Amino acid sequence: MDLSIAINFTYIVSAMLFIFGLKMLSSPATARKGNMLSAIGMFLAVVATLLTKGLSFQWIIIGVVVGSIVGALAARLISMTAMPEMVALFNGSGGIASLIVGWAVYHYTPAGDTLTTFTIFLAVLIGGVTFTGSVIAWAKLAEKITGKPILYTGQQIVNVLILLMVIACGVIFCMNPAASYPIFIATVVISLILGVLVVIPIGGADMPVVISLLNSYSGLAACAAGFVIQNNILIVAGSLVGASGLILTNIMCKAMNRSLANVLFSGFGATVQKKGSGEQQGEVKPASVEDVYYILEAASSVAFVPGYGLAVAQAQHVVRELGELLEANGTEVKYAVHPVAGRMPGHMNVLLAEANVPYDQLVEMDDINPTMDTVDVCIVIGANDVVNPAARHDESSPIYGMPIINVDYAKTVIVLKRSMAAGFAGIQNELFFYDNTRMLFGDAKASITSLLAEFKSA
Ligand code: TAP
Repeated sequence: MDLSIAINFTYIVSAMLFIFGLKMLSSPATARKGNMLSAIGMFLAVVATLLTKGLSFQWIIIGVVVGSIVGALAARLISMTAMPEMVALFNGSGGIASLIVGWAVYHYTPAGDTLTTFTIFLAVLIGGVTFTGSVIAWAKLAEKITGKPILYTGQQIVNVLILLMVIACGVIFCMNPAASYPIFIATVVISLILGVLVVIPIGGADMPVVISLLNSYSGLAACAAGFVIQNNILIVAGSLVGASGLILTNIMCKAMNRSLANVLFSGFGATVQKKGSGEQQGEVKPASVEDVYYILEAASSVAFVPGYGLAVAQAQHVVRELGELLEANGTEVKYAVHPVAGRMPGHMNVLLAEANVPYDQLVEMDDINPTMDTVDVCIVIGANDVVNPAARHDESSPIYGMPIINVDYAKTVIVLKRSMAAGFAGIQNELFFYDNTRMLFGDAKASITSLLAEFKSA
């Protein structure tokens, strides 16, 4: 069989594995298998690509060794709470890789056909924007630069002018690529600048959405690079990343009840405090570990509602242990997961899966809400905005309209957090002042560990 047929056949198998893998990622029960399937697909794609004639293995081996060391170390050393930052850097690497591929092809064959020239331009433009945009997103999330939106007068006009310059460069470049090296370099520089400029006006708090969007861009850049080097699997994989990143961005915006335009241009996440949303609204009722123990001991149904604080406290294992003790005590246990709880898509699912929480106990927001009034106790673990009832009725609240888990409809709500500090949206939560709410102050892991001790000594 012709080698190129064998390679392309392997690419088809890889593409199928990617698609099935992606499908399986949509449920916690099949996600691990889906990940494995996609990894096998990628392995096959890499092996098939290495069979291509005329490769310089010296550089490939150096790349594989350096990349594997960096990847393995990062996977082991990065904490779960820093995962969004890591994804930002991954996207940035994808972007710069596509830019370099486009550049290399242009450098060695400057007089390509129009399609190749156009895709080189796209790979460089989208890759450059993705690279610097992702680096800024990383720096904001890691608090290396201010997380506040950086705004100045005429900002939109400057961005539009830069965009027009890129389009002009693109037209000149595509019309006569062989004589346009300086224009090409200008495109590289402008796209890198554009990446910085489009991300700096967005608040650090909105970075997860931006990262998802940049993820989509990195896919589009890879797809363009695939056209440049005529590699089918790069085109397919790039399209899959581009489409799934866009879908994810859309899901996140919907779950926050915001449009993408609002995320990109509103400067939300600066410390916005709107009327009626930041004030203390009465007295809170603190509870001791012992109080909470007695409430839980008597409950016939308990729903855990995890949020970002669960990730910070790394309390997932002790929560699962508490869930098991409650079940042994005859209590029905559920875990209610909000789609944007935490700081990245699927954040809570990942943590709970890591702690081996049974999948059949995970309940999505839309499924738990109609039954919330039958729940005896809701234990809110480090969640804040995603359980704030103001989202339902307070039109002045920045989170008005965001779907929430209606924990306040349960008979009793126990909130585990360290202080009265606000969550991601920077606003006070009226839930904490409700009659049926008790606050158990302290680090979530420490509080639950003490609860476990109460159960064990009883
Ligand atoms: P948040 O509203 O951010 O609240 C987290 C709470 O956890 C804080 O109030 C904090 O209070 C508490 N906390 C922190 N460390 C803790 C610890 N060690 N022990 C106990 N509590 C701790 O979280 P959420 O309810 O999960 O909401 C997520 C927010 O992120 C939403 O506004 C959502 O729109 C936004 N967002 C999410 C995503 C994705 S994809 N998940 C993307 C973009 C934006 P203390 O400091 O008092 O402890």
